[in-house]
Amino acid sequence: MRLVVLVSGSGSNLQAVMDACSEGRLNAEVTAVFSNRTNAYAIQRASRAGIPYEIFPWQPFKQAAKSRQDYDAALAEAVRRHAPDFVVLAGWMWLLSRAFLVYFPMRVINLHPALPGMFPGTDAIERALAAYRCGRIRETGVMVHYVPDEGVDDGPVIAQATVPILSEDTLESLARRIHKTEHTLLVSALAHVIDRQIETSKEFN
Ligand code: GRF
Repeated sequence: MRLVVLVSGSGSNLQAVMDACSEGRLNAEVTAVFSNRTNAYAIQRASRAGIPYEIFPWQPFKQAAKSRQDYDAALAEAVRRHAPDFVVLAGWMWLLSRAFLVYFPMRVINLHPALPGMFPGTDAIERALAAYRCGRIRETGVMVHYVPDEGVDDGPVIAQATVPILSEDTLESLARRIHKTEHTLLVSALAHVIDRQIETSKEFN
């Protein structure tokens, strides 16, 4: 199975996926990495692993008075050149519109550092900690889900895991625990969809 991974930041989840592929824990290969940020550390991780990467910033589109849809369509075209079975959003900070999603039905998979329906959008960990401190929640979590449409951090859930919040937690300690959970949950969710996809293709051959 061919995975294209979209990133915007440090890429620790990308690293977990690349490691799982190279160690044979995932029946897949990362065929390309796309970053919308020029300075994302994830790019260095891809480069170190010898995986082709492309930096795909919004800025030139904006300067040329292009729309978000123009950007998404161009990104889709670039991603399609790598013929992915799945497109994995691993810390990808850009809301994809239909102009992208239409090319990858039930093939786009997102990771969100909160439980389904909780804290969509940015700063989910920070908002979970604030909600805990107000007594509104007792735990948080992580989810991996399909991206069928333009909903923010919303879509059919593939896997989820709860993460406890401790009274002594700081944002850093909670974030560390969440990221650790993300690294294993993302790999196991991908293993699940990949195995299912392989089974389905066998049935049709
Ligand atoms: C993760 O917490 C992901 O869920 C969120 O951004 C973070 C990216 O971390 N959307 P990394 O770049 O994979 O280290």
